[in-house]
Amino acid sequence: MSSNQPATADKLPQHIAIIMDGNGRWAQARGKKRVFGHKAGMERAREMAEICGELGVKYLTLFAFSSENWNRPADEVSFLMELFATSLKNESKKLHKNNVQLKVIGDKAGFDKGLQKAIDKAEALTADNDGLTLYIAANYGGRWDILQASQKLLKSNEQITEANLSQYLATGDAPDPDLLIRTGGEKRISNFLLWQAAYSELYFSDALWPDFDSEHLKLALADYAQRQRRFGKTGEQVTG
Ligand code: IPE
Ligand code: IPE
Ligand code: MG
Repeated sequence: MSSNQPATADKLPQHIAIIMDGNGRWAQARGKKRVFGHKAGMERAREMAEICGELGVKYLTLFAFSSENWNRPADEVSFLMELFATSLKNESKKLHKNNVQLKVIGDKAGFDKGLQKAIDKAEALTADNDGLTLYIAANYGGRWDILQASQKLLKSNEQITEANLSQYLATGDAPDPDLLIRTGGEKRISNFLLWQAAYSELYFSDALWPDFDSEHLKLALADYAQRQRRFGKTGEQVTG
């Protein structure tokens, strides 16, 4: 058994979603600028994708930049945009080699043309891969997602049903997240996958994102493996 195998692989979530929070505080605790934390956080995100791929997780959704994060100081926002663009350029070959399918979810129209092009290129390169599907949520908001899906559904003239709306959500190709992790100590959703997280198991870690390593992930997976997912039924119905 490799060190990355969780104790209970039979209860491995198919889809993990992570609110990667705490980069700024991590840097500030080291007397550094907030952006230093974003760089470290990016490394951690790359590592997390590798670990999840090795474990056999099918879908990983990482919250990288929310629709509300534009309200941060301009220099932090432009640093994050540049980091996103260079990471896409530097990482996409490796992701491709690892059979990862990369998809950026969020309102891409909010990005400058260069970044939009880098996104298209990385998505096209990895489109046929059938290993881990990695969704990077950038300029993403759960409310935006529900709205854009509703608009598509209306245009399609299909019946307005939950299933029909779900297919138009940004993560429409994936099952809903089984496990939603938030690092950084806050206990809120911050407009992440509002529709999709209806029945996700929630896991909050006090670790700041740049500190959230494979050991922290193992703890989250072990905790998840012990949960009883009832989906409205009684415990007896579920254990049968
Ligand atoms: C999360 O870390 C990354 C982004 C929101 C882009 P933060 O930058 O929110 O870090 P804290 O919460 O201020 O420590
Ligand atoms: C949520 O973190 C968004 C991302 C991790 C990208 P924030 O730091 O923006 O969340 P709030 O503002 O504390 O709710
Ligand atoms: Mg934060």
